[in-house]
Amino acid sequence: MPPKNKVVVTMRLPESAQRLLEADKSPTEYSQHNAEQPCSRLWLLNEIKGAHGVLLGVYDKVDEELLDAAGDQLKVISTFSVGTDHVDRELLKQRNIRLGYTPTCLTDSVADISVMLVLMAQRRARESIARVTAGQWPQMPWHPSLMIGPDIRGSTVAFLGFGRIAQATLKRLIGFGIKDARYLTSKPGQPVQEDHFGLIRDAAVPVQPVKDLKELASCGDVVIVSCALTPSTFHIVNASFFAEMKKTAVLVNIARGPVVDTDALVDALQQEQIFGAGLDVIEGEPEIAKGHPILRQERCVLLPHIGSATIKTREQMAEECVKNLWAGLNGDAMVNEASL
Ligand code: DGY
Repeated sequence: MPPKNKVVVTMRLPESAQRLLEADKSPTEYSQHNAEQPCSRLWLLNEIKGAHGVLLGVYDKVDEELLDAAGDQLKVISTFSVGTDHVDRELLKQRNIRLGYTPTCLTDSVADISVMLVLMAQRRARESIARVTAGQWPQMPWHPSLMIGPDIRGSTVAFLGFGRIAQATLKRLIGFGIKDARYLTSKPGQPVQEDHFGLIRDAAVPVQPVKDLKELASCGDVVIVSCALTPSTFHIVNASFFAEMKKTAVLVNIARGPVVDTDALVDALQQEQIFGAGLDVIEGEPEIAKGHPILRQERCVLLPHIGSATIKTREQMAEECVKNLWAGLNGDAMVNEASL
């Protein structure tokens, strides 16, 4: 009889993944926070004691406190996300704990949301919907200048970070007739290594690296934040960045909230330094939504971190997470393992 594993799952999973989790016949003790609300830190700190594997999400911080609470037997963390900024990867490496994640299956759904946010920010969706909902349409009948905004057609799209999701977003935007694309990665000025969809090779529009942040900020009619959150990208989009942006430009963030300095964004919107913003993520989410001046900015569309929230994508992410978890426990190859 193999030794019994303990597995902790911090969320309710879509049915197909739940079945996959329960299909494993090896002797396993499960502890699952089977609810829509995130589990409390206290719950996780208690339940993780003696665990061999943990399946968790972006709000579950994996740090020294959690790993110490788990104990030396912990073999695998499987995160329900592409982002791994909530995980202390260095610590996992030191403790020989494997990390599974879901970098590929959500690309399309997040890219779709990016495009939606670009269009919503440019076309003043929040203001328009708010006026109609408040019964104010009769006071603002059709007029050539009613709710006008910048065009996506003919624009330069600037990407901060140019990985798979950014490239999938570009692929979609090419269909809208953009002029060109620029990008900045952690290797400024250098061509990106991976051309995920052959966009650079096919050259349907010019796609060029820029040399620095200033150039990126000033060239974009649309600036899309699509980089990982690391100590060097924290608040990289700040007051100086906004000062370089065009007055007609929009900022979209589908990456992680803390890449953008929210107070600086509020100032930029209030002073009309930029035209608008579309955010799927925000620093301090979700609590910030209880009250922050950003919520009152009519030119800022804010979504509750739903980039990957399609039925199929969430099912795929969940199934991948379960597979990664079992692979980590059994010493097999994961669907996607983060290199530490
Ligand atoms: C991710 O996968 O990192 C998303 O932000 C959560 O869906």
